[in-house]
Amino acid sequence: MSEKNIVLIPGDGIGTEIIAAAKAVCDVAFEKANVKVNWIDKKAGGASIDAYGVPLTEDTIEACKAADAVLLGAVGGPKWDNVDPSIRPEKAILGLRKELGLFCNLRPVKIYPSLQEYSPLKKELVQDVDFVIVRELTGGIYFGEREEAQGEGANEFAWDKETYSRYEVERIMDIAMETARKRNKKVVSVDKANVLASSRLWRKIAQEKAATDYFYVDNTAMQLVVNPAQFDVIVTTNLFGDILSDEGAVISGSIGLLPSASMGTGTALYEPIHGSAPDIMGQNLANPLGTILSAAMMCRHSLDLPQVADAIEKAVEQVLVDGYRTGDIYREGLKRVGTTEMAQAVIERL
Ligand code: IPM
Ligand code: MN
Repeated sequence: MSEKNIVLIPGDGIGTEIIAAAKAVCDVAFEKANVKVNWIDKKAGGASIDAYGVPLTEDTIEACKAADAVLLGAVGGPKWDNVDPSIRPEKAILGLRKELGLFCNLRPVKIYPSLQEYSPLKKELVQDVDFVIVRELTGGIYFGEREEAQGEGANEFAWDKETYSRYEVERIMDIAMETARKRNKKVVSVDKANVLASSRLWRKIAQEKAATDYFYVDNTAMQLVVNPAQFDVIVTTNLFGDILSDEGAVISGSIGLLPSASMGTGTALYEPIHGSAPDIMGQNLANPLGTILSAAMMCRHSLDLPQVADAIEKAVEQVLVDGYRTGDIYREGLKRVGTTEMAQAVIERL
């Protein structure tokens, strides 16, 4: 019997509920596959600020480094909106990315036939959408030098610096090319090379690596709405990837369903792409499917359990076909369920 160590970080808001749901699904799926799991509970984000005064502790970092994978819910909420910028809950995510060397973020955008009608785009445009955004995750303006506002009156100013090195661009391009080889073999590299020096280096390396095409980010934002089905793999910088992946998510019609994987040199981390939704926390209303699908990605990419990943993904698809819906994707005539019932419905189909 194989044994896996997984760190669970519920985080804040609906994080606790969606992580509990994903854990329940995993427990059954792993048991069926004869895999023993040791769950290691850790805090991060607001929950960690409340308990220890900082969003991310050395203890959490060390536990993640030692584990086979990390499954995270979501962090942040209005309760911590006014804390010092140096200890904001988001710092937990950024800190984990840096500490674990998670330079690559995979965000697959896929249309479930049973959810097509929820897309804000016309059915003809979205029915063939199936792409993945490969976002650089530990470089660029997110991790560049910055200075908070200083000076007075109209001269008050602040700045953030965008830097990319050849090494950083090459390794993310390699992952994008590798991802495309296993899919439809088309990589569009996205930058703003008509304005930014860092983007000109980005594009030069994308060309050396023989990406299929090179788009400016503004054009990409437009193409995602006009013809999203043209994309297979999109590789882009940290900031552009953050923005485009929200656009991709909403195109799929169900931001509550989209999983993500962050990987690199250390333990990989899996999380849904939606936030902590404090407005619905603690009410058993949150859609757990994005987290459950993130757990499936974890089985495939970190735990070497592709058959468990397939089983979870198939069960989720079946639950949707069978009409189970949390509030975010509910339509009249379908079965309205809460977080725990949704997880149960998935478990019954494993
Ligand atoms: C995301 C989030 C994070 C980001 C925040 C929470 C720091 O928006 O994972 O997309 O900007 O990367
Ligand atoms: Mn984001």
